[in-house]
Amino acid sequence: MTNKITAAITAVGGYVPEDKLTNFDLEKMVDTNDEWIRTRTGISERRILKGEGKATSDMAVPAVLELCKKRGIDPVEIDCMIVATVTPDMVFPATANIVCDKIGAVNAWGYDLSAACSGFLFALTSGAAYIESGRYKKVVVVGADKMSAIIDYSDRNTCVIFGDGAGAVLLEPATDGSGVLDSILRTDGSGRHYLNMKAGGSARPATIETVTNKEHFAYQEGKTVFKFAVKGMADVSAELLERNNLTGDDIAWLVPHQANLRIIDATAERMNLPKEKVMVNIQRYGNTTAGTIPLCLWEWEKELKKGDNLVLAAFGGGFTWGATWIKWNYDM
Ligand code: UT7
Repeated sequence: MTNKITAAITAVGGYVPEDKLTNFDLEKMVDTNDEWIRTRTGISERRILKGEGKATSDMAVPAVLELCKKRGIDPVEIDCMIVATVTPDMVFPATANIVCDKIGAVNAWGYDLSAACSGFLFALTSGAAYIESGRYKKVVVVGADKMSAIIDYSDRNTCVIFGDGAGAVLLEPATDGSGVLDSILRTDGSGRHYLNMKAGGSARPATIETVTNKEHFAYQEGKTVFKFAVKGMADVSAELLERNNLTGDDIAWLVPHQANLRIIDATAERMNLPKEKVMVNIQRYGNTTAGTIPLCLWEWEKELKKGDNLVLAAFGGGFTWGATWIKWNYDM
């Protein structure tokens, strides 16, 4: 036992929409094919949130309600809600406010955090700091994106990659040495040119021209992002191990952002981790941006054991990237 307060993950929730968009569906929409997508990215299908007015909060809500149910808590007990997303329901107010309203988390304050694919790690580290400070007892961290809202389904550079989904974790204080133990987080704004949404912000407000030019969709120079992602995610993961005197043998699971199977493989190799220790669900969900890492935790929750060392790693738009070391807190 130690007296130091750490932020332990005590429950996980997730949600993916029912509707699937397969590689074969995409073959009918753009000049691509199933073989290219599978071999270059590892993706076979992704989920799409359909329905008039359905938004990111509509995926975050079931994810958060699931974790409340699992932990046996009422939403009124939540102190703080952080929603990592680049597809908020609206520019403002924050999606966190909307989620709190929809679930009746009337005692929570909260905000959205924008760090693209690294959003969940940035939000997790922020939420953990609130717990470690002793100020809050129940912080919910959500990673949720409705990428289909900002994807141009005539652009094969982006439409084959992204999907919709949400995951959420509950952070609570622990004194047994479990929880979020270390993070290395980075940003480099010079990378903004290679992965972005050009219009709709204060630099380029919406006009008929921005709509005609398709500037409200995600834009990506895939090859450049790929190059930075492979190096960024592997470097930071290796650095995290080194500074905590850990080796691949100490790690039970790598929980990587699901952007491209080749980036995941490169990171695992650098950490000396066999494939069996790497969570991969990209084949079914594609890249759900802030949703990927909590969705992996959600799907693997039953296999996680108290005391397992997990490394969570991501790279994404911004550029933003990072790695977080977690000691798992419970058996299911
Ligand atoms: O999560 C946020 C961070 N994002 C990432 O980490 C994504 C990083 N980038 C990637 O994952 C990859 O760069 C992509 C999957 C986006 C693209 O794969 P790539 O191996 O880098 O392909 P490429 O852009 O170098 O293109 C290779 C070839 C080109 O044809 P030529 O010039 O060799 O004849 C492309 O025109 O593949 C062609 N191509 C496609 N063909 C079929 C590009 N996109 C497609 C497509 N279907 N969808």
